[in-house]
Amino acid sequence: MVIAVDGPAASGKGTIARALAMHFDLPHMDTGALYRAVALNLWRWGGDPGSEFEAVRACEDLAANLDDPELRSEPVSEIASRISVYPAVREALLRRQRDFAAQDGGAVLDGRDIATVIAPDADAKLFVTASAEVRAQRRVRELLERDMPGHYDDVLNDLLSRDRRDSGRDTAPLTKAADAVVLDTSNLDVDQARAEAIRLVEQQL
Ligand code: C5P
Repeated sequence: MVIAVDGPAASGKGTIARALAMHFDLPHMDTGALYRAVALNLWRWGGDPGSEFEAVRACEDLAANLDDPELRSEPVSEIASRISVYPAVREALLRRQRDFAAQDGGAVLDGRDIATVIAPDADAKLFVTASAEVRAQRRVRELLERDMPGHYDDVLNDLLSRDRRDSGRDTAPLTKAADAVVLDTSNLDVDQARAEAIRLVEQQL
């Protein structure tokens, strides 16, 4: 069984994907972490996020970065959003995501293009969303918990600019697959969102 979970930043898709993986006893891949790991390489090397060529070189040796606390920092988030528009970067990360989705027994993957590009034949597809204001409030709380405080207005503006970049790019833009089911988490707490996600997945099986 393959479950695809897509949605914008701070929509709750990661929490929901982990909860689904636990509930259905499936391995989980956070595909955003791959793009962040590329961004972290580039940042550490002082590479230019405006160069597709340099971004592709940063796609090597990602494993060590995947647990790095800097992965969630603002500069890395910004670079991740910029380098994810490059077709050659997306191509370099495609195989490992497809292989993960194709493993025996199935998997849960979350990202922006799981239902549209990585696993279009997934058994269940959720498009998780929430209002920009709710997402910004969540991100502010998250940053505080990580001791990286951010101002609400700055965080909201960053989210909106990343939404525009994710939705507006030519290759694999963030968009709801025609057969995906929308889960709006704006007015749900974590337990409610988890229960609703399980119900919507079961409905699709
Ligand atoms: O989901 P997360 O915010 O961690 O993703 C980081 C960045 O990686 C996003 O801003 C998005 O541009 C990019 N991304 C993507 N495709 C995916 C997952 C993430 O383009 N499947």
